[in-house]
Amino acid sequence: MSQHTTSASLLLLLVTASVLQHPVSTAQQADRVTGLIKENGWQVVQANCTVCHSAQIITQNSGSRAVWKSRIVWMQETQGLGELSSDAENTILDYLAMNYGQKENSRRAEIPAHLMPDNPYNN
Ligand code: HEC
Repeated sequence: MSQHTTSASLLLLLVTASVLQHPVSTAQQADRVTGLIKENGWQVVQANCTVCHSAQIITQNSGSRAVWKSRIVWMQETQGLGELSSDAENTILDYLAMNYGQKENSRRAEIPAHLMPDNPYNN
């Protein structure tokens, strides 16, 4: 291999490596450790909400602000979660409702009848 080709391959390798290290910045970034979306307030959630359980129990859930509030009240009444300062609670609720908000519909649409296989029990 010529000297020229070698340095061209090396350059390609370096460019590829730097592209791989910088994922598209428009995508929402998640914290590597907790998986929490890094938007305003995520560190308050990390500090108050990952002491007893992993953040995954949060990131796999969704709901309106009221739903998140009811989960916090439930943990306070039954799971030993202490009082949160109203500042912290508001930051947490804003963050959760914004980033893990109510899903419109989590079920896929029904398959149209004409695309369904024949039902052997109907014959
Ligand atoms: C004092 C301990 C404690 C802290 C702190 C805590 N939790 Fe929990 N949480 C629990 C326990 C215990 C459960 C039940 C765990 C299980 O089912 O495995 C739970 C369950 C949950 C669930 C699942 C509820 C469901 O309906 O299945 C969510 C969501 C949640 N916590 C969010 C949070 C958020 C948000 C915070 C921060 C405000 C928080 N937790 C802080 C103890 C805590």
